[in-house]
Amino acid sequence: MKRVAVIPGDGIGPEVIAEAVRTIERAREIHGLEISLEHFDWGAEKYLATGVSMPEGALEMLSAEYDAILSGAFGDPRIPDNKHAADILLGMRFGLDLYINLRPIKLIDARLCPLKEREPEEIDFIVFRENTEGLYVFMGGNFKKGTTEEVAIQEEVNTRRGVERIITAAFDYARHHGRRRVTMSDKSNVLTYGHGLWQRTFKSVAATYPDIEANHLYIDVLTMWMVLDPGRFDVIVTGNMFGDIITDLGAGLQGGLGMAASGNIHPGRVSLFEPVHGSAPNFAGKNVSNPIAAILTGAMMLDYLGFKDAATNIEQAVEGSVRAGETTRDIGGTLSTTEASETIIRRLRD
Ligand code: IPM
Ligand code: MN
Repeated sequence: MKRVAVIPGDGIGPEVIAEAVRTIERAREIHGLEISLEHFDWGAEKYLATGVSMPEGALEMLSAEYDAILSGAFGDPRIPDNKHAADILLGMRFGLDLYINLRPIKLIDARLCPLKEREPEEIDFIVFRENTEGLYVFMGGNFKKGTTEEVAIQEEVNTRRGVERIITAAFDYARHHGRRRVTMSDKSNVLTYGHGLWQRTFKSVAATYPDIEANHLYIDVLTMWMVLDPGRFDVIVTGNMFGDIITDLGAGLQGGLGMAASGNIHPGRVSLFEPVHGSAPNFAGKNVSNPIAAILTGAMMLDYLGFKDAATNIEQAVEGSVRAGETTRDIGGTLSTTEASETIIRRLRD
């Protein structure tokens, strides 16, 4: 039995996660999956009521008792610094050492792409974003804060072990998923120390994968090619901050944040699956948000748990609904969140 902790979170999180859960429950019936889903109410409400974002021992409990975590989004206008969001989301990424942030960029239907005359096959790549170091380590500080002489330092941390394991994961994935090329992206022409480490590590890992083409692009050039010729990408591996930025650009290529799924993975350990989008407080409770990002995230999770047929079934059902235009408004349809999700559930093959 695989155990999943479900954390719906804030804003639109609960609405879209409810649809992901319904889809998984239907897939469980169809495929006879041995999977249980248990809900946790961590998020803004709980934090405001109790001052606690995540109960003590939560990470230990997740890693000891669960196989995966499915979460919505965290962020609430009543908590301006979003402390609870950093505690929960970054807390899980760092605390559970989820070093791979896996973000597929796949165009389902040409109509969804803002670029002219793109065939869906052209936009089909996957980003390996380093997820446990880089600029996300909260190292640094402010000196003479609030004065005209203020100094602010925010440091980027890159370790040989951290860089090597994400690059290796990207090559491994390429080898096992029929991808031909891994593109590493950094800013090593300027950030010579930290990104110099990326360069050197990339070369040494690439040498052990002679079957996979290794190539490099500076991050600025990469963003241009993502727009001009996204078809050249297969697997992209990059650091935490650049990965954050290019995956929103990638979300744009596939129709927006309503379509973008992601996994925060440490192979063999409890891993966290969350749509790329945020809590979108303005849309919360209106039943208008696109459930597809959450539903595809659920499919990624099933795939991770070894339920490949169920994952493929869900992906194909989503493709069917998108091609039929049976979607929410953000991608051109007229349906509500629940209606859009129902069209997907109806398309699951028995
Ligand atoms: C993401 C988000 C997060 C990040 C924020 C909410 C901390 O933008 O998952 O891409 O920067 O990683
Ligand atoms: Mn982001």
